[in-house]
Amino acid sequence: MKISASFARLSACLSLALAASCLLASTGADAAVVTSQLSSVTGQEWDYVIVGAGLTGLVVGKRLADGGNAKVLVIEAGNDDRANPDVSDVGRYGSAFGTGMDWSFSTVQQGLSGNTKTLRAGKTIGGSTSINGAAWNRGHRSQYDNLATLVGDQGFNFQGLQAAMNKAESFVPPDSTQKNLGVTYDASAHGSSGPLQITYTKVNGGGSRRRSVSKRMYSGPQQAAFVSSIKSALGVDKVVDQCSGDNNGAAYAANSIQTNGQRSSAASSYLAQSGDNLTVLTGHRGASLAWADGSSSSSAKASGINVQQSQNGPIQRIQASREVILAAGAINTPAILERSGVGASDVVSRLGVRQVVDLPGVGRNLQEQTMNTLGAQANVNYAGGGPSNMIAMPNVYQLLANATAVRDYVNGNLDAWADSLVSQGHVASREGLLKQWQLSVSAIFDDRAPVCELFFDTGYPSNSYGIDTWCLLPFSRGSTHATSTDAFTDPTINPNYFAIPIDMDMQVAALRGGRRILQADPLRSLTYNGETTPGFGHIPDGTNHGLYRRWRDWVLGTDGTGGFSSVSHQIATCSMMPREQGGVVDPTFKVYGTDNVRVVDASALPVQVSAHLSSTLYGLAEKAAEAIQGGQA
Ligand SMILES: Cc1cc2nc3c(=O)[nH]c(=O)nc-3n(C[C@H](O)[C@H](O)[C@H](O)COP(=O)(O)OP(=O)(O)OC[C@H]3O[C@@H](n4cnc5c(N)ncnc54)[C@H](O)[C@@H]3O)c2cc1C
Ligand SMILES: *[C@@H]1O[C@H](CO)[C@@H](O)[C@H](O)[C@H]1NC(C)=O
Ligand SMILES: *[C@@H]1O[C@H](CO)[C@@H](O)[C@H](O)[C@H]1NC(C)=O
Repeated sequence: MKISASFARLSACLSLALAASCLLASTGADAAVVTSQLSSVTGQEWDYVIVGAGLTGLVVGKRLADGGNAKVLVIEAGNDDRANPDVSDVGRYGSAFGTGMDWSFSTVQQGLSGNTKTLRAGKTIGGSTSINGAAWNRGHRSQYDNLATLVGDQGFNFQGLQAAMNKAESFVPPDSTQKNLGVTYDASAHGSSGPLQITYTKVNGGGSRRRSVSKRMYSGPQQAAFVSSIKSALGVDKVVDQCSGDNNGAAYAANSIQTNGQRSSAASSYLAQSGDNLTVLTGHRGASLAWADGSSSSSAKASGINVQQSQNGPIQRIQASREVILAAGAINTPAILERSGVGASDVVSRLGVRQVVDLPGVGRNLQEQTMNTLGAQANVNYAGGGPSNMIAMPNVYQLLANATAVRDYVNGNLDAWADSLVSQGHVASREGLLKQWQLSVSAIFDDRAPVCELFFDTGYPSNSYGIDTWCLLPFSRGSTHATSTDAFTDPTINPNYFAIPIDMDMQVAALRGGRRILQADPLRSLTYNGETTPGFGHIPDGTNHGLYRRWRDWVLGTDGTGGFSSVSHQIATCSMMPREQGGVVDPTFKVYGTDNVRVVDASALPVQVSAHLSSTLYGLAEKAAEAIQGGQA
C-alpha cells in the first residue's frame, strides 16, 4: 500500500464524511475496485478484460494490473461474498453447496450409474477457492515433467512449475505444537513471499486461544492411528511434504488458510493485495467474444466481450484494447468460446453462430474424478474442529498385488479404448489421447505417481472415522458443449464416468485398500468393530476383501445405495497441446487461430496430476501472467 495514497483517501473520507464506505475500503485508495455497476466500467478504456474472478482470473488480473503497466477489468458472474461465513470459515465446508455461490452443474445421465451427478464450482468472487475444501498439496514430480513433454515446452517441467507454484505462496511453517502432532515440511517446496497464506490448522491450546478459531487440528489418536494402519495394511509410508514432488505417502497436509484460521482464497489474497488498476465487475456474465472488423480465420482478433446481467437483459459490449482472457473455469470457458464461433464445426453450427476458428478440441478431453466414502463407527474423538488434514496417496503397487499384469493389460487395450472415446466424440485426436495415456502409464508404473487419494475423515460418515476414496488419474474422457447462445443456459456436461474399465478397477482396488486400513490396528481398535459403510453385511469380506461385482455396484449405486459423487476437479476442456493433437491453446495460453484470446484456467491443464488442484493452478496462472507480459514487453 502506498502511504501517500492512503492519506489522500483518509482526508477525502473526512471531508466527504463517507465514513462507512471508507471503512470498507480501508486497505487504501490504491486498492482494487469491486463494483456491480456496469455503467461505472463502460466509460473506461481497458487493456485486458478477463472473464471469471476465480483462482486463475485473479492471479492473472493482479499480475497484469500491478506495476502500472495496464488497466484490467475482470468480469464475474457471482457476487462479492467475501464476508459470508460460509466462505471465510473453512470449517463450514459444504454449506455453500447448492446456494447461489455454487454453479451446481448437472451432468447428463451417466451410462453406467444410470443417473445424473452434480459438479460443483464457485460462483462468487474467488471462484472455487471461495468454497473449496482448502486441502493443499501438489502432484508428483514426474507428472510435471510429463506435462512439459505433452505441452512441448520445458518451462512446464517440475522445476518450472515448482518455481511458479512457490511464487503464489507465503508459507507459514508448523509451530512446535503442530510438529508434536506429526506435521513435517520441506521448506524448498513452498514460497515465502507470495500473496497466498498457506499454513496448518492450529492445535487446541496452541497458538491463538480465541474460541472464534474453530479450525483446530484433530489432536486425538485417530490421525496418527491412520498413519500406522496404512503402513501395516498397504505399506504406505509417511512422506515429509506432499508439495515436494515426492507425494507417494501419507502426510499432515497444509491448508489454504491464514494464520487467523480464515480461508485463503484468490480473493482474500491476490484481489485484496491488488492496486487500483484492477477492477472487478460482479453480477455480470461474459457471454461471448466480440470480434474486430476484418478478423480472418487464421488470426481472429477480439475487440472485447459481450456482457449480460440477466437472462432477458440487454447485451452490452466492453472493449479490450489488448487481449481478452478467459478464466471462467473448465465448464464455462469452452462454452464461451463455442458461443463465439471457436470450436468444432458441428457444435458451432448447431448454435447457429458464424464459425471463426475451426478448433475441434474445444470442450473435449474433459477429465473428472469419482469419490466413495468408507466408514467405521466409533466413539469419535473431537479434540479439534478440523478440517481433517491427513491425506494418503498410495501408488499402484501398494493397491494391486498384480500391478505388473495390470500394466500389460492397460497397454494391450489402449488402442481399442482410444477408438471407443474417439467414436463417442469425447476426444478430438486419437494421437493426442494416446500420448496423454502413454505418459500417464509411465508416471503410474515407472515413477510410482500416486493413483488414488485416501482422505482420512474425523466424524464423516456421521459417528465414524471415514476414508474419502477417489482415483486421481482417470483414463476416461468426457466432454462439455454449449447448446444455446444464451449465457444463462448451462452447457451439457458428460464426464463419461467409468467409460474405460480400468477406472472402475482402480476405484475398487482403492476401496479394498481402504477396507484393509480400517481393519488394521491401531485404527481398528479406535472403532467399535471396523467398517460399517458399506459394511461387511453389504459387501462380505473374503480372500479379495469383497467381490468385485459387489464393490462395482456399490460404487455406481446400482445396488440401491447413493453411489459415487463427483470430486468437482473438472479440467482439460481447452487443453494446452499441439493443435493437431486436439489442443486448444499453445504454451503461451493463446487460443489457436486467434491473435489475442487466451485461456488461463483449469481448462488449459491437459491432464490430471495426483493432487488437489489449486496449488498447481496457481502455478499455471502465474506462468500465464508471465507469458502474457513477456509477449507484449
Ligand atoms: C467443491 C470443491 C472442492 C474443492 N476442494 C479443493 C481442495 O480442497 N483443494 C484444492 O486444492 N482444490 C480444491 N478444489 C479445486 C479448485 O478450487 C479448482 O480446481 C480451482 O479453483 C479452479 O480454478 P479456475 O480458475 O479454473 O476456476 P474457478 O476458481 O472456479 O473460477 C471461475 C470463475 O469464473 C466465474 N464465471 C464462470 N462463468 C462466467 C461467465 N460466463 N462470466 C463471468 N464469470 C464467470 C465463476 O463464477 C468463477 O468465479 C475444489 C473445487 C470444488 C468445486
Ligand atoms: C496504475 O497505472 C498507472 C499508469 O496507467 C500507474 O502510474 C500506476 O502506478 C498504476 N498503479 C498501480 C497500483 O500499479
Ligand atoms: C489384478 O487383480 C485384481 C484383483 O484380484 C483382479 O480383479 C484383476 O482382474 C487382475 N488383473 C489382471 C490384469 O490380472
